[in-house]
Amino acid sequence: MKIVVTGATGLLGKATAEHLVRQGHEVISVDRREGDCAKGSKLVVGDLTNLDFCDSVITGADGVAHLGAIPNPTDARQFEVFKNNSVSTFAVFTAAAQAKVKTVVYASSLSAYGFAYSDEWTSPLYAPVDEAHPFIFEESYALSKEVNERSALMWSRRCDTAFVGMRFPWTNTPEKTLELARRFNDEDNLPPDPRFPKGIVAKILWTYLDLRDAVKAIEIVLQSNIKGSHVYNFAAPDIMAKAPTMELMQKFHPKTEIRSPLPGHSAPLSSQAFVDTFGYAPEFLINRDDI
Ligand SMILES: NC(=O)c1ccc[n+]([C@@H]2O[C@H](COP(=O)([O-])OP(=O)(O)OC[C@H]3O[C@@H](n4cnc5c(N)ncnc54)[C@H](O)[C@@H]3O)[C@@H](O)[C@H]2O)c1
Repeated sequence: MKIVVTGATGLLGKATAEHLVRQGHEVISVDRREGDCAKGSKLVVGDLTNLDFCDSVITGADGVAHLGAIPNPTDARQFEVFKNNSVSTFAVFTAAAQAKVKTVVYASSLSAYGFAYSDEWTSPLYAPVDEAHPFIFEESYALSKEVNERSALMWSRRCDTAFVGMRFPWTNTPEKTLELARRFNDEDNLPPDPRFPKGIVAKILWTYLDLRDAVKAIEIVLQSNIKGSHVYNFAAPDIMAKAPTMELMQKFHPKTEIRSPLPGHSAPLSSQAFVDTFGYAPEFLINRDDI
């Protein structure tokens, strides 16, 4: 397949492009930032908020992996995060529809539910959190993710392109996930680290995803025959904490209604819909003995 990967000098985009090249696809890497991109792919530099630019890179593609965005509400002002992330995504979807692309897979986020970046402590209304859980966010990164999911739905009604939004949790290399897990384990004793504000791991419900699983899932979606517009949670089935899930939920999210059992270290987030649809579950899990 000919696949356009946006955000291709970023973490997820570069890893996705590398995986797709390895699988024999023709890959066009796109980013507004010069930088390292996957070997064997061509880097085209430009801003995705520009529709002409999106048209020029997406024409002729069979698939798009849209991973270009400001990945949190803290690196830029709320206005900039919202404008960049929602306008660029709308432009990518518009160009994909125009070009009759078969499938667009795009990064939504677990943050869309609102717990991760709320100033006040917020907890899920119920767990495991599934895709029907309401969004209770209060910042524009999450808002842009909701807008993007709605944009996908709109475009799916206007064209035959399929749109699949992946609500990823913390997604990174095993080393970075271990670093975060160790910080949570010893949070009260370690010096503060602005990258990991206190409480953040409990706010993301201790969920994680290995980059290798993220890129595999993206390729599986691109190769599938899915139609319409869909969103899926996609996280490891377990958590990045030493304590069992129920003990942590009782300590950090005591008001959350537990709707089905969370035995052992099972994630309080359900990725069952993705697993049932695509037959793939994350394979690269944390070794809790290393934490
Ligand atoms: N990594 C995670 O833990 C995680 C979790 C959930 C969701 N996500 C989502 O996955 C996607 C990728 O995240 P990441 O962690 O790789 O972030 P990243 O910052 O490493 O990469 C994002 C890339 O997008 C590019 N970009 C941003 N705006 C652009 C624009 N207007 N035009 C062209 N390029 C633009 C940036 O230059 C950057 O290279 C984002 O949508 C993010 O919200 C990431």
